[in-house]
Amino acid sequence: MSTGVTVRVPAKVNVQLAVGAARPDGFHDLANVFLAVGLYDEVTVTPSPGGPRVTCEGPDAGQVPLDGTNLAARAARALAARRGLTPDVHLHIVKDIPVAGGMAGGSADGAGALLACDALWGTGASRAELLDICAELGSDVPFALVGGAALGTGRGEKLRTLDVGGAFHWVFATAARGLSTPAVFREFDRLTEGTAVPEPVASQPLLDALAKGDPDALAAAVSNDLQPAALSLFPELADTLAAGRAAGALTALVSGSGPTTAFLARDAESAARVARALTASGTCRTARAAVAPAAGATVVRTTAG
Ligand code: C5P
Repeated sequence: MSTGVTVRVPAKVNVQLAVGAARPDGFHDLANVFLAVGLYDEVTVTPSPGGPRVTCEGPDAGQVPLDGTNLAARAARALAARRGLTPDVHLHIVKDIPVAGGMAGGSADGAGALLACDALWGTGASRAELLDICAELGSDVPFALVGGAALGTGRGEKLRTLDVGGAFHWVFATAARGLSTPAVFREFDRLTEGTAVPEPVASQPLLDALAKGDPDALAAAVSNDLQPAALSLFPELADTLAAGRAAGALTALVSGSGPTTAFLARDAESAARVARALTASGTCRTARAAVAPAAGATVVRTTAG
């Protein structure tokens, strides 16, 4: 029997985020092209009476809620409930994905905790059941389990895996404060009020660029319908985007609901240059290079008891 399981989970960037009108349930239909990037959180689960208990370490750990609302705790409870188990676990998160950053860090922790608990408890849940639980936990959680690249439809949780023909070199700039995803969607609703919001559809040139592994074609095709809303709530992000473009990024966009900004570079050297220039620009808190695609949630360590 194992006494500890560690899972590594990637962040994501949305290379296309097409947003439809608000639905009666308040969610928005999306055409959401996810790309997993090589920035990771690690979730370690160990048995602990009276759980789930959550702890977190990392530069931004202070901003992570450690109560029952944490997606890692919710994932442990959801799997335990389905199996008639008590979620007596300690979940320790080593956080490297920006918090409230539009890179699905909380969702990554949910997917990581789910896979770790599944391994610790030996539940033998099928991939389909795990994906089902992920979809209950949040719109971005299933993708964190799957990784690679995928088209998410519905509220983002219905996934179709996409081909990626090469490595893409990205730089991510974190901001001085976070943005709330619901607030950004509300701002989208406010900005589009009275206009006919088109049905969200995936861009074929974008899917072709991913399949070819062509950074120039991908740069020309990226789009994010939440970007005007994120910029409206956080106007200084425009300066970060401009600084990255000036440093030679092929394109610059807000990642998901923001406020992390994403910059596509032609190669690793160019990404390192863009990251250095962004750091020096004073328009962001940190800037880091990361390569995509990255694998989804993966067990990296198991301690036998
Ligand atoms: O699904 P998740 O909990 O990650 O979503 C967080 C919030 O983002 C939702 O409560 C909703 O306000 C907004 N959202 C949305 N449409 C989506 C996904 C998220 O309006 N497709």
